[in-house]
Formats: sequence, structure tokens, C-alpha cells
Amino acid sequence: MSNVEKSSSISGFYKMAIEERIKIVKNFSGLNEEETKLFSSSLDIQTADRMIENVLGTFELPLGIAVNFQINGKDYLVPMAIEESSVVAAASNAAKIARIKGGFTTESTNPLMIGQIQLLNLVDVATAVQKIIDHKKEILQIANDQDKILVKFGGGAKDIEVRILDSPMGKMIVTHLIVDVRDAMGANAVNTMCEALAPVLEEITGGKVRLKILSNLADKRIVKAKAVFDKVKMGGESVVDAFLESYTLASIDPYRAATHNKGIMNGIDALIIASGNDFRAIEAGAHAYAARNGLYTSLSSYQKNENGDLVGELELPLAVGIIGGAGNIHPKAKLCKKILGINTAKELAEVVACLGLAQNFAALFALSTVGIQKGHMSLHAKNIAVMAGAVGDQIDKVAEQMIKEKKIKLDKAKEILEKIK
Ligand code: MEV
Repeated sequence: MSNVEKSSSISGFYKMAIEERIKIVKNFSGLNEEETKLFSSSLDIQTADRMIENVLGTFELPLGIAVNFQINGKDYLVPMAIEESSVVAAASNAAKIARIKGGFTTESTNPLMIGQIQLLNLVDVATAVQKIIDHKKEILQIANDQDKILVKFGGGAKDIEVRILDSPMGKMIVTHLIVDVRDAMGANAVNTMCEALAPVLEEITGGKVRLKILSNLADKRIVKAKAVFDKVKMGGESVVDAFLESYTLASIDPYRAATHNKGIMNGIDALIIASGNDFRAIEAGAHAYAARNGLYTSLSSYQKNENGDLVGELELPLAVGIIGGAGNIHPKAKLCKKILGINTAKELAEVVACLGLAQNFAALFALSTVGIQKGHMSLHAKNIAVMAGAVGDQIDKVAEQMIKEKKIKLDKAKEILEKIK
């Protein structure tokens, strides 16, 4: 059965026992017994020892599933690795509202990454630029000779762009190598090509190459996600208006935009980590893109449509891969990709963008209505109950009573626990 025929709209998922949730995910994604067991195992120490240096152990994060996601007509269960409470519930709730008007839709560019080669000590910058442009064919050929497999799959170096930059050290040339990296994140392929081209550009121009490295501002690898959020489900047009007021601040003020975008990254990073991708690269690219016009601003935008519903859009660079890197070594990352049922890096990036939009919508919706603390209270109360010594169904009972009494404190939890014991 393909994901097209399956529904990720699962009511009460959060109330189920962990085993029951695993069973649902197993059936949805066609996991085998061995894969199912991975949920309760941690990364083995030998694998960890090969991944980084000076290893002592592993560091775990909770792995949850966001439900209700429908993207371009296909249903997804979305794995999220994150330590912050309410984030998974908020994403699921936003996806549920988006579903009413047909779920999320996406658009994305080809997976084009940029490699930078910095040239210094140039006598005549304009002539050097012209020489680089004249040698474009040869430059692309040498770059593509470094990765025949990528070229075989339709990727490879496609173009160059030559920039002249003024600096306190004088003029320099930065050549951008534009590489289609297909299903990879692309850092290895691009860096290898840039290093191979360094002596070539020195010979062509007579200058000296210093930096040769990928740019994390992957602004040729852009994903757009869009959804319509039903005004009735939101609580009426006045709530849509309140939402737009909240959003407007993020669009004009970097202080708010940073927090607004942090909410987007709550979702994005959780899936980036779960799929074994490089969240620092994604973060760097996202924030640089948010400042691309000189003012750091919101990565998302919102408006009301003719029906009074809220239309949300998110646009950002997403350099994610499904081959190579940690995602191919870490068993849970492989598992998460199977749960998603994604077939290409493009598809993964599109799910990531939708999750970011869902997260952003959920945060602004809460902030524009009941505030953000209400959603945090239930899990917070449960944590306090556990700290007070509650076990099993005592946890929910103690938490519920504390919320009822509007006193979520350790001494209160202990007092309630004593009574129910
Ligand atoms: C908290 O992790 C994220 C929020 O601050 C995002 C926002 O303010 O939009 C709630």
C-alpha cells in the first residue's frame, strides 16, 4: 500500500500507549520487526566512535511523530527529534487545520548548491573575470571529472558566476560554482570540485586562491510551502485578523523575526535531526536567507484570501540529502526516512518546509489567542508529577488536579499524590 492510500489523520494518537503508536507507524510505513525494535535502542557505541572523535557515549533526544500531514495530496507521518514539549502536538494540530482546505502544497527548485572560490592578488580584476568566463567550459569539465557518478545521475557542475567584491584588502574575485547535487546534501561533492579548481583558476588568472568551500546560503535550492488555514476552525475572521497583526511585527522587526523564525526552526530542525541531516547548515542558510534584502525578516508570510481564510507561505533554502552523510549511517535516521516514505531529497525538503510552516502557524495561532503557556502546561505538570514521585496513572491524575487548581508546583504535586495514594 502506498502512502497515497493511507491516512495520517489519526485522532487521539497522543493518548495512546507507546506500543500502540508504534503499531500504527509500523502499519503505515511497512516497518519490519527489526526496524520496530530500533525505537527503543540507541546508537551503538562502535558506530558512534566512527562518526566523531573522542567518543564516550551517545546522547538521546525524544523521537515523536507529528500526525495529520497531507502534502501535495500524499499523507505523511512526520518523525521529529526534539527536546521541547508542545512542539510535536502543535505541528500535528496545525496540520489538522491545514487538512480541512486540502493540506499543504509545495514548489521547489532543482537541488543546486553553490561552491565559492576566492581569488586574491590580482593585477587586473576585470581581465581576470573575463578569462574565467572564457574558460567556463573547461572549468565545468574539470569539476565534473571529480564526480562521475553524480554526472551519471543527471547532476554535476552546471554553471559558474563570477563576482567582484570590494574589501579592506582590495578587490577580490569570488567564483561561484553551481552544482546540481541531486539527492545529496552536496557539501562533499562541491568542496571536492572547488579544491580541484583552485590551481586551475590560479593558472587562468595569475592570482592566488584562498578559500574554496561550499556556501550554506543555498539560495538556488529553495523550497516553498503553502497552506490555507480555515477561518472557522481558527475561531472566526477576528482570529485571522489577530493572527495577521502578530505576523506583521515579525515582518518589520528583527527582534520579533528572530523568535518567529525560531518557531519555524523548531519544526525544521526536529525533522532535519531525525533524518540525519546537518541542522547547523540548515540554520545558517535559513537565517542568511531571512536577511537577504538587508533587513532580517520573517521567513514566512501570511495574508487573508477572498473567503477570509488565512493563507500561509514559507520560503527558504533547504540543503538536505537522503544519500551520504550521517543519515546513511545512523539506524534511526534510516528508520525515520522509511517512516516518511520519501523517495528523493526534494521530497524530504518539501516535507521539512511544510513542517516549518505548520510549526509557525501553530505558534502564531496560540500567541494570537490563548498565549503559548497553556499548551506547555499539561506536559510541564506531568513532569512535576513525576518529580514528586508519581508513577503509572498517578502521573495524569496528579497533573490534572494541579492544572485544575492552577498550581503547578512540586509541593502541590506531593500533596495531591499523598491524597490519591
Ligand atoms: C518557542 O520555542 C517558539 C515560539 O517563541 C515561536 C514564536 O514566538 O513564534 C513560541
